[in-house]
Amino acid sequence: MWPNSDMENLTTSQVAALKKSLRLLDTEKLAGEFYGTLFKRYPQVKHMFPTDMKELGIKLMSVFELVIYSFEEKKHNEFSLQDALIKPMQELGKQHEAKGVVTEHYTIANDLLLEILVKQNKAAFNPEVENSWRLALEHLTVAMLSRTNLKVAEMPDEPTLRDTFHSIMKKVLRK
Ligand code: HEM
Repeated sequence: MWPNSDMENLTTSQVAALKKSLRLLDTEKLAGEFYGTLFKRYPQVKHMFPTDMKELGIKLMSVFELVIYSFEEKKHNEFSLQDALIKPMQELGKQHEAKGVVTEHYTIANDLLLEILVKQNKAAFNPEVENSWRLALEHLTVAMLSRTNLKVAEMPDEPTLRDTFHSIMKKVLRK
């Protein structure tokens, strides 16, 4: 059963909050600031990316939309990634691994994405919406990493954003 019993699932109201916040997002602006800031703060990852980032931004946002709109209620009031999406997300994760993307990059990217989401959507964001996004990103990341050879040990030592992210990763990732 995916993901597994240790993983914190989303509630009905969290999924509704995600859908609502998606409708209010300017995804082009979000993707633009996301990659712009990523390359400024972490220039060491830029070489992996193509020069035309517009298309990649659209693809990234499409995955978020797909994931959020297909969260499935597997137990009462407990939503997680739809089964049909797990394999494609694992394949996407393997593609990323082949490009040189490591676990630490996901942590950085998820944190940055949350930061920009909150910044660009101050009026629509509150702790519940932010937490819902954090959970959604965790589910997606865990699925993407779950068939790679990446180890949790590659996580950075410095204080990271979300303790839960790390504990979930440790529990569910195959090493
Ligand atoms: C939240 C998790 C992520 C999602 C949903 C995601 C989604 C995607 C998608 C849909 C593609 C296009 C794949 C294709 O065209 O076949 C892609 C490509 C790529 N992603 Fe991600 N990504 C994620 C995390 C990351 C992270 C953390 C990094 C590294 C910092 C990264 C770096 C790349 C690179 C380098 C490419 C290839 C670009 C190219 O050569 O065209 N991604 N990603």
